[in-house]
Amino acid sequence: MGQPFSLSLQRRPRRLRQNEILRDMIREFRVLPEKLIQPVFVLDQESAREPVGSMPGIERLGRKEFLEEVRVLSDLGIRSVALFPKIEQALKTDSGRAAAVDPNGIVPRLARLVKDAGIPVNLIADIALDPYTTHGHDGVVDFSTGEVINDPTVEILSEMAVVYAEAGVDWVAPSDMMDGRVGAIRKALDAARYENTVIMAYSAKFASAFYGPFRDAVGSSPVKGGAYLDKSTYQLSPGSVREAMVEVALDIEEGADIIMVKPAGAYLDVIQRVKDQCDLPVAAYQVSGEYAMIHAAAQNGWIDYAAARDESLLAIVRSGADIVLTYFAKEIAQQ
Ligand code: PBG
Repeated sequence: MGQPFSLSLQRRPRRLRQNEILRDMIREFRVLPEKLIQPVFVLDQESAREPVGSMPGIERLGRKEFLEEVRVLSDLGIRSVALFPKIEQALKTDSGRAAAVDPNGIVPRLARLVKDAGIPVNLIADIALDPYTTHGHDGVVDFSTGEVINDPTVEILSEMAVVYAEAGVDWVAPSDMMDGRVGAIRKALDAARYENTVIMAYSAKFASAFYGPFRDAVGSSPVKGGAYLDKSTYQLSPGSVREAMVEVALDIEEGADIIMVKPAGAYLDVIQRVKDQCDLPVAAYQVSGEYAMIHAAAQNGWIDYAAARDESLLAIVRSGADIVLTYFAKEIAQQ
C-alpha cells in the first residue's frame, strides 16, 4: 500500500531526487579542479605575506611564499596560476613602460623561479599596464585630453608579452581592452619565435564595479576611498552584449586561443552566448568583488559560505565556461 491519498500521476520527477546516489548520478554539471585557475597576488620581495583587507583569505606573497604556494596548488590539482603583481609606487611611471617591460621585473623574475624549480604549473600573466602606471589606467594617458591612447599602449603590450614569454610565462592574457592588441601580441610573439605561447584574451571585459577589491590588492586605485577609476572608454558597457560579440569576433580573427568573459556571475548570459557562437574554449573570471560579496555576507551570518561559493561556481560552469578563474580555486581543490 502507498499513501492513503494518491494522485494517479504518470510522471513523478521527484523519484530521481530521492537519495544522494541518484542525485549525484543524474547531475549534469560539476566544478572540476583541472578547469580552475587560481589568481595569485605577488610582491617584489624575498619573503612576504600581506593580507588583502577586502578579500578574506587572500594574501600578497613574496618570492619564497609564492614558490611554496605554487607547489601546494599543483599538488592539490590546481595546475594553472595567474600572476598579479603589486609593485612599489616609486617604480610606477606615467606610461608604465619601464616596469612593464623590465626583464628583471617582478613577473619575469617569478616566472624564471617557477620554471627553474621545475614546478609543473601553467603560468599565466596579465598583459595590461595598470599595475605599472601612476594613474592606474590600463594604457598610456594623453594628459592634455585625459584620453587613454590606443596604439602606443599596444606597442608596449606587445613588448611586454615577448619579455614574459622569454621568462617562461606559458599564457599571456591581455586584459587591457585596447583595439588590435591580440593581433599585435600574436605577431610580436611569433616574430620572437614564441609560437607556442597561448593567448587567453579578455575579450568581453566589462567596465564593472566588481573589480574594486582587486584594485585594492594590486594597489592600482590611486584614490583611496574616493572615486572609482572610470575605464569605460575601453572596457565594455554592462548594457552592451552585441558589442561584446564584436570584440569576441575580432579577438578570434586576430589569433586568440581562448576567449574570456569577465566578470562571470553577473554576465552568465554573455558566457552562454559566447559559448554558443564560438568554438574556442571559453574562460570566465569570477572577479574579486564576486569573491568579496560571498565572504562579506557569510561573515554577517547571512548565507552559508561553502554552499554559496559552490553554487556561484556551478552557475558559471552551467552557463558554458570551460575554464574558470576564481579566488576559490584552492579551496575547491581542498574539498
Ligand atoms: C587589470 C585587471 C583587472 C582585473 C584583472 N586584470 C582590473 C581592472 O580592469 O580594473 C580584475 C580582477 C578582479 O577583480 O578580480 N587589467
